[in-house]
Amino acid sequence: MYYSDEVIEEVRAKNDIVDVISGYVRLQKKGRDYFGLCPFHNEKSPSFSVSRQKQMYYCFGCGAGGNVFTFLMEYENYSFAEALKFLADRAGVELPQQEFSKEARERADTRAVLLEINKLAAQYYYVQLKNSQGEQALSYLKNRELSDDMIRAFGLGYSNKYSDDLYQYLRGRGYQTDVIARAGLISVDERQNVYDKFWNRVMFPIMDVNSRVIGFGGRVMGDGKPKYLNSPETMIFDKSRNLYGLNRARSSKKPYFLLCEGYMDVISLHQAGYSNAVASLGTALTLGHASLIKRYVKEVYLTYDSDEAGTKAALRAVPILREAGITARVIRMEPYKDPDEFIKNLGAEAFEERIGRARNGFMFGLDILEREYDLGSPEGKTDFMREAARRLTEFDEEIERNNYIEAVAKAYHVEYEDLRSLVVKTAVRTGLARPAERPKSAGARSDRKEDGITTSQKILLTWLIEDESVFRQLEQYVGPEDFSEGLYRTVAEFVYEQYKEGRVNPAKIMNHFTDEEEHRKAASLFHTKIRELTTAREQEKALMETVIRVKNHSIDEAARNLDPADMAGLQRLMNAKRELQDIQKLHISVN
Ligand code: UTP
Ligand code: MN
Repeated sequence: MYYSDEVIEEVRAKNDIVDVISGYVRLQKKGRDYFGLCPFHNEKSPSFSVSRQKQMYYCFGCGAGGNVFTFLMEYENYSFAEALKFLADRAGVELPQQEFSKEARERADTRAVLLEINKLAAQYYYVQLKNSQGEQALSYLKNRELSDDMIRAFGLGYSNKYSDDLYQYLRGRGYQTDVIARAGLISVDERQNVYDKFWNRVMFPIMDVNSRVIGFGGRVMGDGKPKYLNSPETMIFDKSRNLYGLNRARSSKKPYFLLCEGYMDVISLHQAGYSNAVASLGTALTLGHASLIKRYVKEVYLTYDSDEAGTKAALRAVPILREAGITARVIRMEPYKDPDEFIKNLGAEAFEERIGRARNGFMFGLDILEREYDLGSPEGKTDFMREAARRLTEFDEEIERNNYIEAVAKAYHVEYEDLRSLVVKTAVRTGLARPAERPKSAGARSDRKEDGITTSQKILLTWLIEDESVFRQLEQYVGPEDFSEGLYRTVAEFVYEQYKEGRVNPAKIMNHFTDEEEHRKAASLFHTKIRELTTAREQEKALMETVIRVKNHSIDEAARNLDPADMAGLQRLMNAKRELQDIQKLHISVN
């Protein structure tokens, strides 16, 4: 972290979380907290809560949560430093420059300069398209039936025929050759001659989710090769973490994205009213793309090209999406090549109908598989069903697997029970699913115990945070050192310190977890529903058991790590054991 805790806390304290989030989500006050529809997953009834008192948000549906920094990191895809900068500007706090480490400042500065250069280039190409040199390019786009609105919305442009026009322009704006090169816009040969990378092409600026230009795709106007030339990956352009059209699709109201292959497909679909269309940038879909999509929707309709390559790409995308927790459906474009051609020929209504008839991703896989078997012959069909059964074993969750077995049985006219027993047999044979009574290995068991104790630590910590009176009753018996799980230990240390000074300040604690995963985990400590559905008596009993479990574990650990020569350590351990007996006699009362 490049800034002092004080500065970070000042920025946080000056940005009330309810005010900030209200700019993105419609919130309604209910009791002490505010509720709205979660912007990180799709939902119909609000499970996204924001607490003014805690200065934290949490979604009971998807588990997203954190403080005001987390929100911007997740929503705007900002790094911690960018979120800090944004909120500092918003609250009029001047961030001290010198607190940046030298490399950190250089990195941040270079990123900012590369973004500036790409933005200027996009503006330059846009102007070129609209002046006389761009006539041919503009008519190319018009021939492809793109409206002026779409040309403007996607910032399309033209790189003219001069070999270093953009370079000269950027030099004139004061940028050095080496940074222009790092922005990916020129190439320099051995003799130090500089050439614009894009030359006589229609330009498609590639924007990140915040509409910042991070690179370009340039298309030849005709049959030249390569058809599209793309910016190389740079400090600001990572193809596997960005999607074309996402800056617009993120605010589409539809609960799914249309995922297609090309720039033109995206623009055509947006023009036809599908503002939820995105495309990966001339690369295969990655898990990075899938997790990016997951922030906005839980369902994706694949609208890949109808050729062999597009079909293969769709088949590969389905499991990747599934791994990220996204349901995939496949739309076929036949008899047309891609969504762009389809829409041009048949229009949006016919496309809507294809959406309605989209194939479930798994079933689509079987459709394609069918081509390799002769389903008319008994052997062919048996072999096919074996392969289908093997694929069915890949669903971990029983309900889901059974639903698919049912669907497959129905589609291929076999008995549900027959298929199910084939799936179970296959699973057992390939070791994918183990018979229930198989003894668990020692390793697995100790893992489970580890999980149990971590959960107990989590519950105890949440109690200490939630209820000051519980903290006061327990503080002499339980300390931060009793939390063996690293993140919980850290949080516990803060909690004890803050109670000593007055009140717990969850949002301030959150400042210390700048990593998204850690942020989430820490945030969930402040929002666990420990009190639901139980009486105070039951809660007291459960809390007591939790304290004893955590304490026991902590004593065991200390005993295991004790150096036999450490007399003081031994004494502490004996005291701890005695204390444990006191705790067992304690009556804890909850509020
Ligand atoms: P396509 O060849 O399907 O292009 O490539 P398209 O989008 O249908 O283009 P038009 O309609 O002929 O203009 C799909 C995507 O693959 C990448 C681009 O991102 C393109 O949009 N691609 C394709 C390249 O990066 N380079 C190429 O030479 C071709
Ligand atoms: Mn295409």
